Amino acid sequence: MSRLVVISNRVAIPDEQGHPAPGGLAVAVHASLQDRAGLWFGWSGQVAEAPAAPATLDDGRLCYVLTDVRPQDFQEYYNGFANRVLWPILHYRVDLAEFKEADLKGYLRVNEFFAERLGPLIAEDDILWVHDYHLIPLAVALRARGHGNRIGFFLHIPMPPPELLATLPHHREVLGALSEYNLIGLQTAGDVSNLGRYLTQVLGASSSDGEHYHLGSQHFRLGAFPVGIDAEGFRKLAEQTADGALAEALGSSLEGRALLVGVDRLDYSKGIGNRLEGYERFLELHPEWHGRVSYLQIAPSSRSDIPEYIEIDAAVSAKVGHINGRFGTASWVPLRYVNRNHSREDIASIMRLARIGLVTPLRDGMNLVAKEYVAAQNPADPGVLILSQFAGAAAELDAALIVNPHDRDALAEALVRALQMPLAERCARHQASYEVLLANPIGSWGTNFIEALMPAEVGLV
Ligand code: F6P
Repeated sequence: MSRLVVISNRVAIPDEQGHPAPGGLAVAVHASLQDRAGLWFGWSGQVAEAPAAPATLDDGRLCYVLTDVRPQDFQEYYNGFANRVLWPILHYRVDLAEFKEADLKGYLRVNEFFAERLGPLIAEDDILWVHDYHLIPLAVALRARGHGNRIGFFLHIPMPPPELLATLPHHREVLGALSEYNLIGLQTAGDVSNLGRYLTQVLGASSSDGEHYHLGSQHFRLGAFPVGIDAEGFRKLAEQTADGALAEALGSSLEGRALLVGVDRLDYSKGIGNRLEGYERFLELHPEWHGRVSYLQIAPSSRSDIPEYIEIDAAVSAKVGHINGRFGTASWVPLRYVNRNHSREDIASIMRLARIGLVTPLRDGMNLVAKEYVAAQNPADPGVLILSQFAGAAAELDAALIVNPHDRDALAEALVRALQMPLAERCARHQASYEVLLANPIGSWGTNFIEALMPAEVGLV
């Protein structure tokens, strides 16, 4: 079996017990590397003026190779082009994109640097799998160095329509680089259709079936590979932690109130501000629920060097203070707001206690929190998932209460509906959602993608 070489900006090294680091990409990539020898290459998380040779960590089967990047490269590549241009545009926030020519140069330079450092580690029959928007041009840089391997690319975040993609300065160069991959994987059919339209309408590619594409001398394939989760594993984790210390402390602090929970990286795409407005509207319209609910928003800080993230941090904190000040009493705090990171165990246990899971991003590639919330529930007395229509997960979890996160009245109404939902309806919705999770287990994502990338299959183009 060929070796799998995974390349991503962040590399998630498991902890001492062998548990993968939390986070969608980390868990899903680890599951794909389960059954084969592999190498995982990426950024070490450190900067250095003169990066030393990459550090290697070999656990016998899987080898992690990590490189530092120069401070200026990090600034231009990660804080600049990747997270101030690609991230907002791919999340439909063209208004937030801050393009600088120097950042694009830094982005291309780091992709060249990764290719240069990775090159000597690649064998001829390795399968290469590149992840996410940080590394779109990596295949170009590898091909230029003579690597003829099968190379696949997976985008974990959304792919907007061509009209928005065309707002990206130098979009032909940046997005056209995707044609150097043999297979491009996206989260949903909608994402595939958006990229397909961009390729044909803007770049002039041709395709007779919306799956196999020709652009100049390149042939490649697009496909939807929605990331799943280990539903049984997460359910068991939630069950095991249901009697743990955290569940006990949180449970008793609720004093019988219904728990609403949101778990998001502190990012403007997650719609935390809109969600808080929906909660405020709910409290405004429904005084009968005052003192009977408690909303816990967990939002670990993220990308905190970037101005838009500093702003969202301040705006959410201010809104939390406003809501608690406006509705709270000496004996009831309507909203608990926590910036610290929690372990997978703690998240599973909190989710199981929560009567409502609020997952209302303004735009999200998939959102595995939604899936984990469903998996964590007690099937005999499950909570209700309120899910944004703009999360990739909504294409699968249609038994959730689907909402438009921009509509605070709709959010308020969904909260009331979820709080009043009879047990039979909660069970039926939960069962339908749980079956969806079982039908798309985490392992299938990697297996399906690798199968599609193998020559026999891709040779059909
Ligand atoms: O959603 C895309 C993603 O790259 C995830 O894989 C990851 O959890 C998240 O963004 C973290 O972003 P960063 O690496 O910038 O902290």
